[in-house]
Amino acid sequence: MERESFSSRLGFILISAGCAIGLGNVWRFPYITGLYGGASFVLIYLCFLLLLGLPIMVAEFAVGRASVRSAAKSFDVLEPKGSKWHLYKYGAIAGNVILMMFYTTVSGWMLYYFYKMAVGDFVGLDADGVTNIFVSLLSDPVTMAGNMIAIVLSCFGICYLGVKAGVERITKSMMACLLVLMLVLAANSIMLPNSGEGLKYYLYPDFSKVIEHGISEVIFAAMGQAFFTLSLGIGALAIFGSYIGKEQRLTGEAMWIMTLDTFVAITSGLIIFPACFSFGINPGSGPNLLFITLPNVFNEMAGGRFWGALFFLFMLFAAMSTVIAVFENITSCITDLTGWDRKKTIRLNIVLISLLSLPCVLGFNLWSDFQPLGKGSCVLDLEDFFVSNNLLPLGSLVYLAFCTSRYGWGWDNFIKEADTGKGVAFPKWIRFYATYILPLVVLVIFFNGYYALFSK
Ligand code: ALA
Repeated sequence: MERESFSSRLGFILISAGCAIGLGNVWRFPYITGLYGGASFVLIYLCFLLLLGLPIMVAEFAVGRASVRSAAKSFDVLEPKGSKWHLYKYGAIAGNVILMMFYTTVSGWMLYYFYKMAVGDFVGLDADGVTNIFVSLLSDPVTMAGNMIAIVLSCFGICYLGVKAGVERITKSMMACLLVLMLVLAANSIMLPNSGEGLKYYLYPDFSKVIEHGISEVIFAAMGQAFFTLSLGIGALAIFGSYIGKEQRLTGEAMWIMTLDTFVAITSGLIIFPACFSFGINPGSGPNLLFITLPNVFNEMAGGRFWGALFFLFMLFAAMSTVIAVFENITSCITDLTGWDRKKTIRLNIVLISLLSLPCVLGFNLWSDFQPLGKGSCVLDLEDFFVSNNLLPLGSLVYLAFCTSRYGWGWDNFIKEADTGKGVAFPKWIRFYATYILPLVVLVIFFNGYYALFSK
């Protein structure tokens, strides 16, 4: 069967950006920024995006475009005969599947909150009432599973329509709506009374806050966020490299995607922080920021039901753009591996991913005694740990080493592919950095993840 590709450059950029833009930008970024003291954290994070994210993203795109395959076959096509790089396909597929095993549940929360806001169920609730909505959701496996399955069905449904007619067409429209929604919400937040305090907290770097938290903790949080937000290391972006032609050099394309991803993350902060300060709410409340803290803000805001519904619609679009992209990758990996028809693969995946997402749902209620990473942790934490602390950094290392080592695909092949076409060339002078320093940094992140976990 002929392999589909994207119909336009814009389609490729928006879909890859959609894969990157997700809960990492709109949920994780604001709360981590809130925890680590605002602007100084943002500055460190931006450095890591550039130093760490950009070269790894170009490596992934190059492997995808040169092989014209998903991660399930790209190493087989490009590796030197007799080498074992292709074994990483199992790591890449596992990374995508495990990411979805918790991502679908949290995306389901967004769907649920959008519905609750739209029908006015938050209207008139006090802070305890708002907290109770989240607590009841977590204790109700049927509602959570229902929302998770709605996400799985709708996102695989979009993949079912095909790469051009489904993934490209729908993600493109969704991303356009997302960008407009963000601007409207940010303008609304900035116009709230006392928003200046929030803007100052968010945009004025105060390094004493970094010192307060401990510089190494802040640095590692910033690095981890850079990996997560760009979905690096599991071939989730590489697949989109395989759907494009050779007209453009890859560094310029990666810069576009990073810029869009950063724009969405920064604008999420512009929506959230002024609103928190305007209504006297602590921005450092951690993962609950979105589900417990913010509905209180909307409750006090004039027209809060409208703005709240719009806010969760925006969150839902961001989450779904990632789910669709990762589902496309999983589908493509399985068709490359088995030779099955795309539609049959999608039908099977709907059942498989729904079943595999159940442990995360149950981890909050029926299986809440299972606390794999210490007191209070749950299945979601374990799955997130596998992906964020293991597969993303180690997978990035595999892509980097594959592109820079002579025992892999090698530097010359990589540069030739990355620089084919028009646009910004890959800076050759970073060869030493990309070959030796960057892998070291990635390894440090990896070991730090373990140290932080087991020294608690
Ligand atoms: N890159 C995805 C996100 O930011 C995983 O949510």
